[in-house]
Amino acid sequence: MKQEKHRIAVVYATEQGSTRDIAEFISTDLAGRDAIVEFADIDHAPDLSRFDTVVLGSAIHDRDFLPSAVDYVHMHRRELDDRDVWLFSVGLGPALRGPVGRRVGRIVPKRIAALRDSIGAHEYSAFAGHYEGEGISLRARLRYRLLGGPHYGDLRDWDAIRAWTDTIARSLGLPRARYTTIHP
Ligand SMILES: Cc1cc2nc3c(=O)[nH]c(=O)nc-3n(C[C@H](O)[C@H](O)[C@H](O)COP(=O)(O)O)c2cc1C
Repeated sequence: MKQEKHRIAVVYATEQGSTRDIAEFISTDLAGRDAIVEFADIDHAPDLSRFDTVVLGSAIHDRDFLPSAVDYVHMHRRELDDRDVWLFSVGLGPALRGPVGRRVGRIVPKRIAALRDSIGAHEYSAFAGHYEGEGISLRARLRYRLLGGPHYGDLRDWDAIRAWTDTIARSLGLPRARYTTIHP
């Protein structure tokens, strides 16, 4: 008997666009592996009853998901709890270097950990995003330097994002991608 295709919703909350690019990459890659994938801004997320799997990502601001993502998780906690949820955040942590920076970068902010646990997420992954030096306080700049922040601009690690997407695909038993997904 032919198995039904997986139906995956990829939803994201972004302020400056880097989380959107990452979500779009994941969505394109999974769609190329014979799954039915819908990609949407969290404010226009589809009805989850049509999906068995949800990939949900948000930028981090002030050690928490963006308010739209926090509200979404609270409002849809039951539906998310009933589905296979792959959660990701986009912030600075994974880009930090040096012994202290690496240690700090691995810490999952408390409020994000609580959200993750409230929906029993299958897995949570943190990715580096895009960080511009302009417009941030001197205090934030100093902290970034002290924690081994490498440079400003695009800090995304597409190999790490690709590897996580592979992990999702393997876990769902999806075939290998026939094409290599291009990132921005
Ligand atoms: C006001 C502000 C607060 C931020 N707070 C955090 C933070 O607490 N932790 C962190 O890792 N990154 C923080 N960042 C960095 C952002 O998460 C990073 O720039 C990310 O790429 C933004 O994603 P986006 O491009 O999808 O909006 C902050 C950025 C801004 C502008």
